[in-house]
Amino acid sequence: MAITVIPSGQPCGASVSGVDLTSPLTLDEVAQIRAAWLKHHVLSFPNQPMDDDDLERFTLYFGPFGDDPFIAAIEGRTNVIAVKRMADETSPLFADNWHSDWSFQEQPPAGTCLFGITIPPIGGNTQFANQHMALEEMPDELRIRLEGKMAIHSASGAYAPAGFYGENDMAERSMDIRPSDEAQATQLHPIIRAHPETGRLGIFSTAGYITGFDGMEPDESRALLLELYHWQCQPRFVYDHKWEANMLIMWDNRSVLHKATGGYDGYDRLLHRTTIGASR
Ligand code: SIN
Repeated sequence: MAITVIPSGQPCGASVSGVDLTSPLTLDEVAQIRAAWLKHHVLSFPNQPMDDDDLERFTLYFGPFGDDPFIAAIEGRTNVIAVKRMADETSPLFADNWHSDWSFQEQPPAGTCLFGITIPPIGGNTQFANQHMALEEMPDELRIRLEGKMAIHSASGAYAPAGFYGENDMAERSMDIRPSDEAQATQLHPIIRAHPETGRLGIFSTAGYITGFDGMEPDESRALLLELYHWQCQPRFVYDHKWEANMLIMWDNRSVLHKATGGYDGYDRLLHRTTIGASR
């Protein structure tokens, strides 16, 4: 079977066919998928009736498992989490703001795999913003102010006890989120950095996990972060991914931001997620 890669025609994303992810892959297939992933940043694989063993095996072709803090793994697994929402759930949507997964870690994950199990007939798309393109098209005036800056990353706004998913998240939530004081920790990363595999420069992460810039006054930091946010998440950089059941997607956290969207109230939605750790 020959692997076929069809670009989405949007700022990133491609659909891959001609490969069976329910069976072990050959080295050549893994190399072709890795090359397509680095080129298109988000790959989708429709019509793959995978189970969690298949999902874990696929993930490990691309790196070690990443560490998933603040969300418990599903029963019987240590590296699979459920992105889940029930038809009648009223809690605010999970991951409804732009972010790069776990960018507050010392070694943030290379990528994320997400497998569609129960997909609502309407809404629930996942959006991706290409951060190479956002940098390459950035006005010099803004780029000059970002060059050389170290961003301060933290999970506190989301996962600390006082964060978005913390004590104030009162409505019943079907996802097993575990807020903790550990979310207060901070980590510095360059705001503009070279992709570790391709060397292409891009903007790394966004206000979802960035709280400011090292050595800058808080007001000035906030204003710059907001200006950057408005630039980097513009629709002209965005690929809008529509889900199907039995579809796997993998994205490159080093190249894209992503966010969940709603619009499926009254329907269940369930996906299983694994994290591809930074390559050693
Ligand atoms: C995620 O950020 O892992 C969730 C994306 C989604 O639910 O569409």
